[in-house]
Amino acid sequence: MGKKVTVVGAGFYGSTTAQRLAEYDVFDTVVITDIVEGKPAGLALDLNQSRAIEGFETKVVGVTTGPNGEGYEAIEGSDVVVITAGLPRKPGMSRMDLLETNAKIVRQVAENVAKYAPSAVVIVVSNPLDEMTALAQIATQFPKNRVLGQAGMLDTARFSNFVAEALNVPVASVRTLTLGSHGDTMVPVPSKSTVNGKPLRDAMPAEQIEELVVKTRNGGAEVVALLKTGSAYYAPSAAAARMAKAVAEDSGEVMPVCAWVDGEYGISGVYLGVEAEIGAEGVKRVVETDLDADERASLLAAAEAVRAKQSDISSM
Ligand code: LAC
Repeated sequence: MGKKVTVVGAGFYGSTTAQRLAEYDVFDTVVITDIVEGKPAGLALDLNQSRAIEGFETKVVGVTTGPNGEGYEAIEGSDVVVITAGLPRKPGMSRMDLLETNAKIVRQVAENVAKYAPSAVVIVVSNPLDEMTALAQIATQFPKNRVLGQAGMLDTARFSNFVAEALNVPVASVRTLTLGSHGDTMVPVPSKSTVNGKPLRDAMPAEQIEELVVKTRNGGAEVVALLKTGSAYYAPSAAAARMAKAVAEDSGEVMPVCAWVDGEYGISGVYLGVEAEIGAEGVKRVVETDLDADERASLLAAAEAVRAKQSDISSM
């Protein structure tokens, strides 16, 4: 049977994710939903009208959902559901400032996903990311491997872009890695970052790496400050769509994602940014990579910071 993916939320993040997923042409159907009357249907109509030009057969379906789950039957049979619902940051806000508002929204969405698409893999992108991912798992009661969050792909892409720009090299020659949280305790991993296969640490001085790390950590906020309304969506949607594609194709690709950690790095019982093999069942396996002592200490600190916040989540 053909594959089906649902994107919940038709803001810029959701609509660009739906566009990328449709243009991959690997799904039969992309469903996009929103609570705004008409908006998802309008976007679907518009996207479908691009099919003849972009050359994809995927059909896009737009559905408005109601407060009591009306419309959610459209997501039935989804292999993947990407949850983008929730408010974005305003200039000056941290992702954590969205916690209470977005918790209500994400919980409601997740409950409907559990009801109508009980075998889907859920990819959460709503902020604060690590907490909303944990909440979606609680609200769906899905196995933990079937709920994951998008963050590491994005942070890594930002880091790689800044490194490529600073060294004036093709971005394809740069590999970087970030772990930890999608927030203040993001953990860059210079020991696993390379330029043309050579250590990043040989390509630039430690202070410059640190500068780019700070720029990466503020990557989202810098975009928010410039846009004034809304937050980043081109890079975020690229990251989320690649994850959904890896699930649909059962590719086994290793990606930095927010995944349930159960013993890796000596850390247990928390959703945290780590590398994982992604496939049809969501996270096939968390991949533990060698870290140097500093990086390992930062990852442990990130895990504890995220754990403290995630423990507040179950009551929201
Ligand atoms: C960002 C938001 C989407 O980092 O978390 O841009």
